[in-house]
This record gives sequence, C-alpha cells and structure tokens, in this order.
Amino acid sequence: MVEESKIYVYMEAKKPFFITTPIYYANGLPHIGHAYTTVAADVVARAKRLTGQEVIFSTGTDEHGAKIAEKALLEGKNPQEFVDGIAKAFEELWKRLDISHDHFIRTTDAQHKNVVTNVLTFLYDKGAIYKGEYEGLYCVGCEQFKMESDLVGGKCPDHNRIPEKMVEESYMLKMTEYQEALIQKIESDELCIRPVKYKKEILSFLKGQKLEDISLSRKNVAWGIPLPFDETHTTYVWVDAFLNYLTVLGWDGKSEMPQTWPADVQFIGKDILRVHATIWQILLLHLGFPVTKTLFTHGHILSGGKKMSKTLGNVISIDEMLETFGVDGTRYLLLSGGTFGEDMDLTPERMKEKYNADLANGLGNLVSRVLKLSERLQGRYEPGPGVALSSPYIECMENIELSQALELVFARMKQANEYMSQEEPWKLAGVDQERFEKVIRVILADLEIIAFSLNPFLPETAKKIQTALREGKTDPLFQRI
Ligand code: MSP
Repeated sequence: MVEESKIYVYMEAKKPFFITTPIYYANGLPHIGHAYTTVAADVVARAKRLTGQEVIFSTGTDEHGAKIAEKALLEGKNPQEFVDGIAKAFEELWKRLDISHDHFIRTTDAQHKNVVTNVLTFLYDKGAIYKGEYEGLYCVGCEQFKMESDLVGGKCPDHNRIPEKMVEESYMLKMTEYQEALIQKIESDELCIRPVKYKKEILSFLKGQKLEDISLSRKNVAWGIPLPFDETHTTYVWVDAFLNYLTVLGWDGKSEMPQTWPADVQFIGKDILRVHATIWQILLLHLGFPVTKTLFTHGHILSGGKKMSKTLGNVISIDEMLETFGVDGTRYLLLSGGTFGEDMDLTPERMKEKYNADLANGLGNLVSRVLKLSERLQGRYEPGPGVALSSPYIECMENIELSQALELVFARMKQANEYMSQEEPWKLAGVDQERFEKVIRVILADLEIIAFSLNPFLPETAKKIQTALREGKTDPLFQRI
C-alpha cells in the first residue's frame, strides 16, 4: 500500500500542469476579449512556474469553417492565405503582451489534421458516429446549431443574426449515453466548473433535457478537414477545434493518451461554456480519457456598460491600450477592472484613473520614494533568500480569484505607503537613524513580497522592482498620464 501511494505521488508530481486558452477564430484580428482570456491564463501559468511546477501552456487559432471561408472570400484571398495573416497577428499580439505560452497551435497544421483524421476513424470504427440527417437552425456566427429557446426575437442574441434553417445529410456523434455520467462528474467536481454559478447553470441545462446527438460533419463547407470515411463531408469546426487540446501534447490521435492529459485548467468565456462542458467532455469520454479537471469560465468585457460594437463606436482597442498603458499597464487593467469570472465594464476614463492611481501614483511612487531614501541607509539592504507569500494571496491564486489576489497585493502597497506617510522617515534620517533604518527596511521587505506576488501579473515591473532592490536604484516604473 505504502509503496503504491508513493508511486502515485511521484506520478502526480511528474505530470506538467496543463493550461489552455480557447483557440481563437481566425476570422478577424485579435481584440481585447481574446487578450483578456489569454492574459488570465498567462498569469496562472506564470504563478505555477514560480512554485517550481513544470507547466505546459497552450493557445492558438481555430482556422476552419464557413465563417472563415466567408471572410476570406470577402477579402479576395484564399482561406489559407487569409488565416496565415490572422495567425501571425495573434502571435505578434501575444509577444507584445508578454504571454509565456509553450505552444501556439493552428488547426491547419498538418499534425493537427492528422489527429482529427485518426480520432474520427477511431470513433467511427467504435460505432460512436452514424450517418443521419440533421435539421436545425444554424448560426454561422457561433458555428453552432441553436435551439428555439436560445433565440431572442428569432435571432441569435450573440450575433444579432437570423439563423439559417438547415436540413442536411450529416454524420452524427452519439451524446446521450454519457449524459448521466457527465452530470455525476460535474456534481462531484471531477469536472470542476468554476465560478460555481456556471457549474449550476450547466447542471440545470443537463438535467433539464435529453442531450441531442450532434452533427459532426458538414456537406457544403469545403474549408475543413474531410471525414476519413466519407470525403464528401468536412469535420464540424467545433470537433476539429476541441482536439487541439490533445494535439498540442504531441499526440498522434491513435496511440495511448498523452501523459500530460487531463488539462488542469481550461480557460473559456461564458459564451463557449456549454460546448466545452458537453461536446468536448463527451468526446473525451468516447475516447476513454478523463475529463478536464477545471473549466474556468470568465465573463465578458463591456465598454461603458454595453457590448462592444463598431456600430456603437465603443470598441476598446487592445493596440491603443498597449500604446497608452504599456504591457504591464494593460495586463493590470485587464485583470483588475472587475471580479474575474463576472462581466467587467471598462471605460477609457476609468482605465486612465485606475492606471494613475494604482500604478503611477501608487506603486511607482512608493518604489521611487523608498529607493531614494534607502540611499541614506547605513549598510545596504540585502534582499532575503526567499519571500513568504501571504496565505490569503496563495488561496486566491489557487482558486483563480485573480482580481482578488491583485487587490490583496495593492492593499499591501497602500499600507506601505500609509506607513511611510505616518513615519515620515525623511525626517528621521541622521536624527533618529535607528528608527529610520527600521522603517525603510520594513518597507523594502514589503516591496520584496509585493514584487514577488506581482510577478505573474506584471512580470516586467516585478523584475524591475527586484533589480532595483538589489541595485538600490530604478527609473520610474510608470509614467503618469
Ligand atoms: N474558436 C472558438 C473557440 C474554440 S476552443 C476549442 C471561439 N473563438 S472566439 O475567438 O470567438 O472566442 C474566443 C474567446 O474569446 C472566448 O473565450 C470568448 O469568451 C472570448 N471573448 C470574445 N469576446 C469577448 C469579450 N468581449 N470579453 C471577454 N471575452 C470575450 O469561440
């Protein structure tokens, strides 16, 4: 027994912590919503690496389907040429945002296409796929069949578009046989859906109706991966896209499960929760693989209380954010503007205020003031060998309560600032040197913890503070706007 549990612990420790973002539709340039999911996932990846865990963090682009072919045609490009350009723009944005992903997967990669082909062959041979006919309302915007109850005024509320009535010969994937198992796994948190309100939402959906088998192929969409057993059909984009989460692990689609599966955290927006909690998980069950460990769902970014749209003219551009606030300023504003998980409302005015208050006047000011004062220490301040993070911070990070974790760090920063104002160390130097030394050293030690805790969120700033603590000087961290 003892031996067995030892082996288990060893194996648990060996598996890298696997984090994914959705793969983004290559039908347009990256925007703030994509940046939001990706920055959040990056924070968790960086935090895990800091604890010494090996991490695999993947992101990428979803490049097949009617919507993309439609867009390429509009731009007078062939689909491959079109998606090549978009994928490049995503990769560039991730570089600018300091995203530390290990893999950038594209569904047009040959290796991925091979996985999809092999998985479909396996599922077909196993009898999980059958030929049928599908009749339904299809929203090209979502690339999903819609139920009447999903529509508002006959339109898809996400795309304000009347779905097309489609009757088509289609290959179907069996869903119902796993419905009960899925409910049980969600209830027991084997598949942990967080925040809890989304778990409840999915459970009530799953308990409210019998799952329908899903259409797994399209006959009239040329831009996709042909079914290996009937080349007149292409693979439904969502099924194609989900398999990216296994392709990135170097899997070939037919041998044993990749060792790094299951994913520890899969980040998704609330609009794609249902497909991730049903179709994706049932695909895994068909393959005989464990379900995702945690599906972490976030809300949407609103602008001035409304959904962003070109018509409303309220789109917040991620490029402009980067130009105005820099990398860490942008990362900070994305993660501190609201409770992570809920919808978050941004306005240009509030972002500017928050940037000035928290970063330029708050953190930046504290660092420069205390470093200036530390020049008058007798004997240098030596940063300690390690820092003790507060347990509330650790708990927030474990629970992916990212905005709350940031709040804790900034509360500490404010306290340090207040302590400095109270103690007025600039009056103490040379007068009551002993007290001066104590006050400055307390604040420097605080800064060490602050820098360490900020590392996953604001990597560049954290590094600058850490260097400054060693060298005793720094350039201003943030320019006031
Ligand atoms: N291609 C699919 C995902 C396939 S994963 C196997 C897709 N792509 S998407 O580009 O439309 O959206 C990807 C992610 O961006 C989703 O998690 C979505 O929630 C997020 N966002 C898109 N707009 C958003 C906001 N305005 N705010 C926050 N996130 C939003 O769906």
